[in-house]
Amino acid sequence: MHNITLINGDGIGPEISQSVMDIIKASGLVINWDIQSAGADVIEKEGSPLPQRVLESIKKNKVALKAPVTTPIGKGFRSVNVQLRKDLDLYANLRPCKNLPGVETRFSGVDLVVVRENTEDLYAGVEEQIDENTAHSIKIITRHASERICKFAFEYAMKNNRHEVCAVSKANIMKLSDGLFLDSFRNVAKNYPNIETREILVDNLCMQLVQDPTRFDVLVLPNLYGDIVSDLTAGLIGGLGVAQGANIGLNYAVFEPVHGSAPDIKGQNKANPTALLLSAIEMLRYIDEKDYAQKIEKALFKTLSQGYKTQDLGGDLSTTEFTQKIIGNLN
Ligand code: NAI
Repeated sequence: MHNITLINGDGIGPEISQSVMDIIKASGLVINWDIQSAGADVIEKEGSPLPQRVLESIKKNKVALKAPVTTPIGKGFRSVNVQLRKDLDLYANLRPCKNLPGVETRFSGVDLVVVRENTEDLYAGVEEQIDENTAHSIKIITRHASERICKFAFEYAMKNNRHEVCAVSKANIMKLSDGLFLDSFRNVAKNYPNIETREILVDNLCMQLVQDPTRFDVLVLPNLYGDIVSDLTAGLIGGLGVAQGANIGLNYAVFEPVHGSAPDIKGQNKANPTALLLSAIEMLRYIDEKDYAQKIEKALFKTLSQGYKTQDLGGDLSTTEFTQKIIGNLN
């Protein structure tokens, strides 16, 4: 039996978490979920949106599944997501983006992976108010973090039979910070002569992705570009409801969808659990439960191919109806 931390989040988090727990249970795999609440709802009671107990649970279990958590804009506490990634040194954010069976989109043959640096850049949250009308945010890029994320991207490419890693930057303008990222990429690339390399500016990448995403394989990006580009790539395969992700470090891994807490559909039984389910499937592969991962993935793909979908994908099923269809396809 596996002990796994589940941060069930807020907004649509609890609904999609329940769906995923029900599907995994119905597959026959026994998981002892250590359910930990975090986010806006616990601030009042515990004084922090990310209480120490959550970090301790992940440190004990090593692996977590995380539903989205709301981050208040402009004020209040630092994002739980950012803090979690920093405190556990989950330096790599892996966001695979591949067409799903039964989900028709503008392009077929999309199969790319966004590897996003997860610990620094403008996400370091180093900001200062200069005066009433001026604020500064400091972009932090280090050789250490850049080299290790590039190494992660090349290692991922090797292990997963990918042929190219493309570095994304804006080094023509941010010559020092993005220049350092690019220089680190070139250094690391020398150790992987069998993998092709490419360099592209982030604006050009966005244009090319919406023209023909099949031109790309593995993308490696500093934190903020990675955040934005991975929402774009989510749109290429059907939207946020189907975009999976994982935060990986040397000692711990937290699997979570790309999307946020979707307050606009909270509590309406409308949310698509697919992104969290796909993240959970990758988690099962990570903990070496490959047969169960395969079984659940097959049931999900079959359900989508049969035309059963939630509203975000043009269907008419509720979260719970869609969940039951997947469970019915487990065999
Ligand atoms: P969002 O991803 O929550 O929603 C954007 C749009 O996509 C909304 O219309 C929403 O209804 C839809 N959507 C997202 N997930 C869906 C799903 N599973 N099924 C169906 N529709 C779905 O982005 P937004 O509104 O910018 O952020 C809301 C909150 O989530 C913010 O507080 C933000 O900081 C937080 N957030 C948290 C993340 C995390 O916990 N990892 C990641 C991104 C945002």
